[in-house]
Amino acid sequence: MKHYIGNGCVVESLPYNKSKTTLITEKIASLESEHSEDAFFVADLGDIVIKYQTWRELLPRIDPFYALKCNDDHAVIKLLADLGTSFDCASKAEIEKILNLGVSPSRIIYANPCKQKSFIRYAAKHNVKTMTFDNEAELYKVKQSFPEARLVLRILPPADFKVQCNLGIKFGCHPKKAAQLLTKAKELELNVVGISFHVGSGAEEAEAFAAAVEQAYYVFELGREMGFNFELLDVGGGFPGQKNTAITFKEVAEVLNTALDRYFPSDTGIRIIAEPGRYFVASAFTLAVNIIAKRIVLRDRPIDGDAQEMMLTPNDEPAFMYYVNDGVYGSFNCLLFDHAKVQPSMVQDCQDENTFTSSIWGPTCDGLDCIMEDCLLPELPVGAWLFFEDMGAYTMSASTCFNGMPRPSCHFYCSEDSWYYLYPEQKKKTEIRIPSKAIPILKTGLDIHSSYEQTDDVFGSPLNFDKICEDITC
Ligand SMILES: Cc1ncc(COP(=O)(O)O)c(C=O)c1O
Repeated sequence: MKHYIGNGCVVESLPYNKSKTTLITEKIASLESEHSEDAFFVADLGDIVIKYQTWRELLPRIDPFYALKCNDDHAVIKLLADLGTSFDCASKAEIEKILNLGVSPSRIIYANPCKQKSFIRYAAKHNVKTMTFDNEAELYKVKQSFPEARLVLRILPPADFKVQCNLGIKFGCHPKKAAQLLTKAKELELNVVGISFHVGSGAEEAEAFAAAVEQAYYVFELGREMGFNFELLDVGGGFPGQKNTAITFKEVAEVLNTALDRYFPSDTGIRIIAEPGRYFVASAFTLAVNIIAKRIVLRDRPIDGDAQEMMLTPNDEPAFMYYVNDGVYGSFNCLLFDHAKVQPSMVQDCQDENTFTSSIWGPTCDGLDCIMEDCLLPELPVGAWLFFEDMGAYTMSASTCFNGMPRPSCHFYCSEDSWYYLYPEQKKKTEIRIPSKAIPILKTGLDIHSSYEQTDDVFGSPLNFDKICEDITC
């Protein structure tokens, strides 16, 4: 069953558990029948629904504000909006995107401590009141453009913990300087409502959250002593989202809940929010790429341009350079910007058990465009496909079309269970039996889905099958 969700986006709901490899294989067959070999994503929206349910179960006190920067695809944000999450936006365009979904401005935190003035004015105009700050200059800008804002002081978390991306090098007021900043806010008669932190993206030690909560508590106390009416704690992002990570979400949840119960017990009435990004989307997306070119080189000798290929003798151990149709200027920008590690898998099982030293390169003309410098793969022909899992976070949102390389399309799917968990009213509609009089007409080629395809938003207001059947039988 296909669902049209606005912005030209289609989601296929699956009545049974079709494996991801089967989906990828089907998609490849359909591409090849059109003589195409373009790279593509498959994205399991059901995975995001399950992540949401798990969040609610394991972190019941914390309202997630999804960090749009991580993946702002329409299907992702529409699904999350309908699930009930709120949003962390970092710019005017991100705020606009969320408001255009019909989400209330009260469900947005403008979580960029260094904002362009005109963006603050935009937030003011659209009543996006909650925003972070970590420096004095920001306070003057807010005073000038949006004095009614609800400000959240972002503090630097303790730096003793391992993270994939350290955000503390750029943002966060040192807790020792908090008093100075809060004094300035008081002087400017600004409304500071709470504290936020971000332990770093891709936290690798759960204790980082506990240490940051403890530190936030002391700044909270300070703020209260200074006469602020603090009511909000924002524990930021950093939650693991890939399939295999140094720590599990469950471990983080346990540590975080214990720290919150100790320092911010529920009877204090403080609202606790978070800004998860990769947690929701990393594992939902898988990228399939096509090997568009290949070069055989000598494994044990220094690379020497074209002469390499000429010099290969039967005694030489070959190595293979594979060129695929997405790279670091595209979805694999995560290798540069997010310090990500990626792992290729093969779509078809390979009969040949021999593996060779291989490297995988992107499609552009730039030597920097290398996905993997050294991995072991069987020898693969030009035209073979590879896929990479865990590709939903900080991939498509920062990709470019450098050298004219197209961005991969995305095939969204979802198990029926997850889909109807979210849209139970659609289940009733789709269960309606088509009147027998209509069946011959349908058989003559009238495709309900494509005939009634809508370009506007029909998420949450499903295709009206009663009406369709009425139309057909009239
Ligand atoms: C302010 C802010 N909030 C939330 C996030 C999301 O972090 P993560 O994807 O690690 O959950 C980021 C990521 O850079 C961020 O800068």
